[in-house]
Amino acid sequence: MVALEIVHASNAQLRELGPGLVALFVGATSGIGEYTAKAFVTNTISPRVYIVGRNTAAAERIINECKLLNSDSRVEFLKGDVSELREVDRICAEIKDKETKLNVVVQTQGNLHLRGREENPEGLDRKFTLTYYSRMRFITNLLPLLQTATTSTPHFSRTLSVLGPGHEGKLNFDDLELKNTFSVGKCASHSIVMNDFMAEELALRETGSSFVHSSPNLVMTGGARELPFWARLAIKVLSPVMSPFAVNAEETGARQLFHATSGMYPPAKPAAGSATAVGTPVPEGVSILKGLNGEVGSGGYAVDWDGKATGKKSILDEYHSKGVGKIVWEHTMRVFARLDKAEQ
Ligand SMILES: NC(=O)c1ccc[n+]([C@@H]2O[C@H](COP(=O)([O-])OP(=O)(O)OC[C@H]3O[C@@H](n4cnc5c(N)ncnc54)[C@H](OP(=O)(O)O)[C@@H]3O)[C@@H](O)[C@H]2O)c1
Repeated sequence: MVALEIVHASNAQLRELGPGLVALFVGATSGIGEYTAKAFVTNTISPRVYIVGRNTAAAERIINECKLLNSDSRVEFLKGDVSELREVDRICAEIKDKETKLNVVVQTQGNLHLRGREENPEGLDRKFTLTYYSRMRFITNLLPLLQTATTSTPHFSRTLSVLGPGHEGKLNFDDLELKNTFSVGKCASHSIVMNDFMAEELALRETGSSFVHSSPNLVMTGGARELPFWARLAIKVLSPVMSPFAVNAEETGARQLFHATSGMYPPAKPAAGSATAVGTPVPEGVSILKGLNGEVGSGGYAVDWDGKATGKKSILDEYHSKGVGKIVWEHTMRVFARLDKAEQ
């Protein structure tokens, strides 16, 4: 476990990366995304931050709170429903109009519901799109900006997807998209395993950036708002029992920011001659993490809430031996190609 004092000290060193870092937080109008965006604003010099979600009132509140945390920050709300990939594309185009580089992309979009499969205009389930397809679409659309960030001071870029490594389940290879076999449990298993393998695959291809899939542990957020009344009531009744086991808002923001910026999770090939290309320096007493492919410093990581490596070994070993990284990559690119074709 990386001690919280180490996390705070590392985050404070983000200022040494210089002014004008640019970051995108998708799903930051609430919960883990909001806490992480605020930690970023607090620890950086004149940052430019984009937050994505649907709730305008929440975004306005967060923008005002960020101004109080750092008066030199510039935070902008990009409103959109990213359970549809055409909305992801529209938002990415807007970012590309405004910025030439992106140092950090943090994604926490998701919802908790028991409604079953809900198809979007692209033929994908909306929940699955939030936790997997939209996240990969943001990353692949924005790769040119992540690459540019590695070619100019501080030569640093990273993506962080917060979901659930350590809770991998089996994939249905006959229905990776879950068109015919959707359930909330299968959606979680597919999203988690596919986030893992895409972090690994992206790191192989984009060696100057790193790609992290992290777990938040239990965090008391508004995440239950779409559950039926009886489930919300049960959570409310149980919350005094659950709270002591939860990670609080401030610690969550600090720890996820650490995952998004620490040199513990470097790219496979950071820009030569730049100490900041790995992020903030690796703190004393901890070492560079072993990546998803088993190599230390591989650039693609599954990280537990407390900073250490995670992932269900039995499933990851079996899927590595079956070449699942290639299968997941090709599936995802096929889905994106289908969308591109439909848009033409
Ligand atoms: N909290 C936990 O204990 C916990 C544990 C394990 C994993 N996780 C995972 O961590 C992630 C974040 O969880 P959280 O607890 O922070 O949830 P949260 O407080 O509900 O935040 C979810 C964020 O996603 C955004 N979002 C939801 N649907 C959207 C849509 N269609 N379009 C655009 N944005 C959308 C929400 O914004 P708008 O409402 O403004 O659209 C909100 O900003 C989720 O994927 C969750 O599954 C959480």
